[in-house]
Amino acid sequence: MKRMKPFFGLIVLASMIVSMSFSSCQPAKPKHTFEIGKDDFLIDGQPFQIRCGEMHFARVPKEYWRHRLQMTKALGMNTICAYLFWNYHERTPGEFTWEGQADVAEFCEMAQEEGLWVILRPGPYACAEWEMGGLPWWLLKYDDIALRSTDPRYVEASQRYLKEVGRVLGPQQITNGGPILMVQVENEYGFYSDDAEYMGVMRQAILDAGFNVPLFSCNPKHTLKRGYRDDLFPVVNFGADPADGFAKLREILPEGPLMCGEFYSGWFDTWGTPHTFGNTEAYLRDMEYMLKEGASFSIYMAHGGTSFGFWGGADRPFKPDCSSYDYGAPISEAGLTTPKFFETQELISRYLMPGEEALPEPPAPMPSTTFEKVTLSQFAPLFDNLPEPVVGDEPKNMEYYDQARGSMVYRTTLSAGPACTFSVGAANDFAWVYVDGEEVGLMDRRKRNYSVTIPAREQESTVEIFVHAMGRINFGKEVHDRKGLNAPVTFKSNGQEIKTGQWEIFNLDYNDQMLAGLKYSERTEPNTKPGIWKGSFTVDKLGDTYLDVSTWGKGVVWVNGHALGRYWNIGPTQTMFIPAPWLKKGENEILILDIVGPQAMTIEGVETPVLDQLKPENDFSGTRRNQGELQIKEKQPVLKASFKPGGEAQTVKFDKTVKGRLFCLEALNAMNGDRYAAIAEFDILDAKGKAISHENWTIAYVSSEESSGENGIAENAIDGQTFNFWHTSWSITQPEYPHHLVIDLGVETEISGFVYVPRMDDKAPGRIKDYQVFIGNDLVKK
Ligand code: GLA
Repeated sequence: MKRMKPFFGLIVLASMIVSMSFSSCQPAKPKHTFEIGKDDFLIDGQPFQIRCGEMHFARVPKEYWRHRLQMTKALGMNTICAYLFWNYHERTPGEFTWEGQADVAEFCEMAQEEGLWVILRPGPYACAEWEMGGLPWWLLKYDDIALRSTDPRYVEASQRYLKEVGRVLGPQQITNGGPILMVQVENEYGFYSDDAEYMGVMRQAILDAGFNVPLFSCNPKHTLKRGYRDDLFPVVNFGADPADGFAKLREILPEGPLMCGEFYSGWFDTWGTPHTFGNTEAYLRDMEYMLKEGASFSIYMAHGGTSFGFWGGADRPFKPDCSSYDYGAPISEAGLTTPKFFETQELISRYLMPGEEALPEPPAPMPSTTFEKVTLSQFAPLFDNLPEPVVGDEPKNMEYYDQARGSMVYRTTLSAGPACTFSVGAANDFAWVYVDGEEVGLMDRRKRNYSVTIPAREQESTVEIFVHAMGRINFGKEVHDRKGLNAPVTFKSNGQEIKTGQWEIFNLDYNDQMLAGLKYSERTEPNTKPGIWKGSFTVDKLGDTYLDVSTWGKGVVWVNGHALGRYWNIGPTQTMFIPAPWLKKGENEILILDIVGPQAMTIEGVETPVLDQLKPENDFSGTRRNQGELQIKEKQPVLKASFKPGGEAQTVKFDKTVKGRLFCLEALNAMNGDRYAAIAEFDILDAKGKAISHENWTIAYVSSEESSGENGIAENAIDGQTFNFWHTSWSITQPEYPHHLVIDLGVETEISGFVYVPRMDDKAPGRIKDYQVFIGNDLVKK
């Protein structure tokens, strides 16, 4: 592999040329230089250890940006790392917004005023548990677009966006007296594919946009070489085992400063799975290792904040993200110090660079408040508040109707006749099916159950499908996440397709105009069909507070016109952050969309958040997963073998391909002899040896999983992220080996092998030694 081009000394020249062009319109700011040296990053020629904290300005109310920047400075960081979410700035093709909450230039200026440098991550793809990973939904209007590739439609739109980023943030580069040290190209592209030419096109787009500071790329250690280019400075992302992470980085970066681009302080939460607290002891141990090594790092997240509105994404295969992005970060969702904050600050203060001042005290916390419990009683049923429909011969996905988010109602008629089966290619993400107003079935993307029986009909009947969409998946090929009903949409009886009447499609994107037009009436009974409740509450003292939504079902909340985010009573979060700037002293208006109906229409403003209360009994779909019965006793294993010790990803090839829909790994014992098994990631290889997309995968059976002491659910083994993992149960029960994990690929598939990624943390239990593999269509009885 060709060695990295030395980035040394290039900067000075570039800085002079550019500063001359920009200086004519900008007040003179002190000029600094930033370089990537042989061993260190250099600011003004002096070694500089980047201690960076990730924060997303789109997840923090603008009024609180400065406070959070001061918190990050006090934490011991000298740099802020900020993603740009393309879809946040170009909500409609060609129309850009850089004002208000989207004013990233002001955010950078503020960071500089607070003595922080900036590392910019403009994308075009980000990930970050953000709607579609930051990519704009309207790209999906092209039925066959290939996102994150050299597809000209994608490249053109990316170039237009990046040009705008250059216009807005070019002046903020260190070469122009600003705080931006370096800019990332794309994000963990090696996870997605290996086309270095595509990375080159994105790199060039960022250069053409006017960025002349060093450009870099980031990847987890096992995908550093995929899409690698020697004209992009590489950093490695990891949450454990820094020694191995940096060793892998040295394979493509023999010399130059070592940097961890994302060092996980915790992790994100998804609905229905346990809250992640993060392992503080390991986090501090690994951070000290990097400090001792003089390596640079960026804490992901230093301050998570909140995915307000409809901006939260979903992990794959389909694990929608919670609205709270507290992330177990040192600075809490409400911007408060935490034990992890002080432990980090104490550690860093022992490794300050020569001449560095002592770390400042954190700024005072923002005032907090509470408000009395109130009951809402005004209700607007959605089926009675439908907008004008779009009429057509066949139903289409949401993007086809230029709808960005929200819900949809599809309505058609079926002639009289025997029972039949209504099925769809996909219902993203939940679909309630009604016949003449009566609910006859539910489609749930988590289970991929996309067919419902329509009962026999004496006369012509009206079929209505209420589809509710959550955030678009932000990771993997699954970012091609078209919401609503995806083709084919059919009604069949004895295999015969039944023609329907015309289709009426009602688009419910909950924009201000729709919310303002709703007709309410008094109601004291919980709703069973989707609708919006309205009410008010009184705040005597202004301050941040948490809205207790634990008695509500599933939906979205607005306070004084601000969309707080999504809620879902299965947890783990049962409260929603309300920042004080969105409240008024006295009366405040609240709207609550509830698509399944509350247990009680009460709300309350509470002091402390509830981020770790799982309530699977509340799941409107019964269970999160259809767990069948394992039946492999009489079966012949396809393979009996042993994994190698260590944290490497291990590719196992079969002598010959095997056909089946279900893939069962039977773990027989552990490397360290204890009773636990864990898997960070699992890929299955098709006949050509290529990793099969996880798009249609579900977990058909798992012998046990930890879901209270930590988030060790089985889906973690197939979500593409290597930092989280499936772990057999340990807090309540401690079942012995053998342990079983059965993946349903969704269709019968020719399989030539698989890839097993062991748990990252080399000091933790769960690495599997001996195992057997079974493949077939009847390994699990449903
Ligand atoms: C990856 C991505 C980040 C974020 C983290 C998980 O590493 O690069 O954007 O999604 O995972 O929080």
